[in-house]
Amino acid sequence: MTFNFQKLPVILAIESSCDETSASVCADGVILSNVIANQTIHEAYGGVVPELASRVHQQNIVPAVQQALLNAKVNKNDINAVAFTRGPGLLGSLLVGVSFAKAFALAKNLPLIEINHMQAHVLAHFIGDRKPSFPFLCLTVSGGHTQIVLVKDYFDMEVIGQTTDDAAGEAMDKTSKILGLPYPGGPLIDKHARQGNPDAYKFPEPQIPGFDFSFSGLKTAILYFIQNNIKANPNFIQENLNDICASVEKRIATILLNKLKKAADEYGIKDIALAGGVSANTGLREGLLEMGAKNGWNCFIPKLEYCTDNAAMIAIAGYHKYLKGDFVGQEIAPLARMPL
Ligand code: KG4
Ligand code: ZN
Repeated sequence: MTFNFQKLPVILAIESSCDETSASVCADGVILSNVIANQTIHEAYGGVVPELASRVHQQNIVPAVQQALLNAKVNKNDINAVAFTRGPGLLGSLLVGVSFAKAFALAKNLPLIEINHMQAHVLAHFIGDRKPSFPFLCLTVSGGHTQIVLVKDYFDMEVIGQTTDDAAGEAMDKTSKILGLPYPGGPLIDKHARQGNPDAYKFPEPQIPGFDFSFSGLKTAILYFIQNNIKANPNFIQENLNDICASVEKRIATILLNKLKKAADEYGIKDIALAGGVSANTGLREGLLEMGAKNGWNCFIPKLEYCTDNAAMIAIAGYHKYLKGDFVGQEIAPLARMPL
């Protein structure tokens, strides 16, 4: 593909909100590269250590950007704007990406575009040809957030349901920690669940009003269930790991999908999307498609590389802000908390 860079907005995008350092280049809304540097350093700690995360971002950010430019076959002088994740996320991690974006924009005299990470997860659906129509509902499930979002326009989103305690990803990660699996546990629960029986064990479904969620009770129920079974059989986890993972995954997926169905019915919306790291989960993806087929929904599930944190979603969000001329100045600072 050859582009006339004189005419198209070419956007460099940076994502550094948690433990992935990512850079992407997009030209006229087409993603040309998406480089993601994962941080394995946190595995040993059972969770992301913020101080370590920001240090590794510092080491990864320049090579990630260089690789993104190289993969896109774009020269840094062809960039028209720099988009970056302003928040929400870990402040020290965000600071690295924001500082890099500001420095790059200052050096090249380019406009800066601030992006809300949670909006970007939703806008990942505008990468590629098959796009949802407004208004649509998006279940955004990540390590820090669980939201049902009413998406009225690119940057007009309303959270109609959210978790009152832990996020769905946290429930996955905490369960895996109880099972002695390394961080991040979500992908490992997914892997073991594929070989297990999802109906082997029944975990409770919380009764929370409206479209909100709660996962802390489930976490406690899983902990007690494991502790009690280990008393009777010290090898309980090893002998039943696949069934435990499959049953936990099924419960988390049904909690999420039952609320999504309730929201879809109430709002009369048929375009239904999934976003965020947990949308990589096989059980959840299959569950949505099954529910969608029964209810006549048009389901939108991101490609795996756009589920977990990535800069391509920042680039596509940046492209739509670029079209509106929505830029920010060099005084911009990261935000650990940033509402949708
Ligand atoms: O969106 P994300 O990459 O980062 C945040 O913004 O938080 O989401 C990370 C979360 C983690 O909790 C991780 O365990 C979970 O997504 N995750 C998964 C899978 N892949 C990532 N959970 C279940 N199954 C997966 N395949
Ligand atoms: Zn995320």
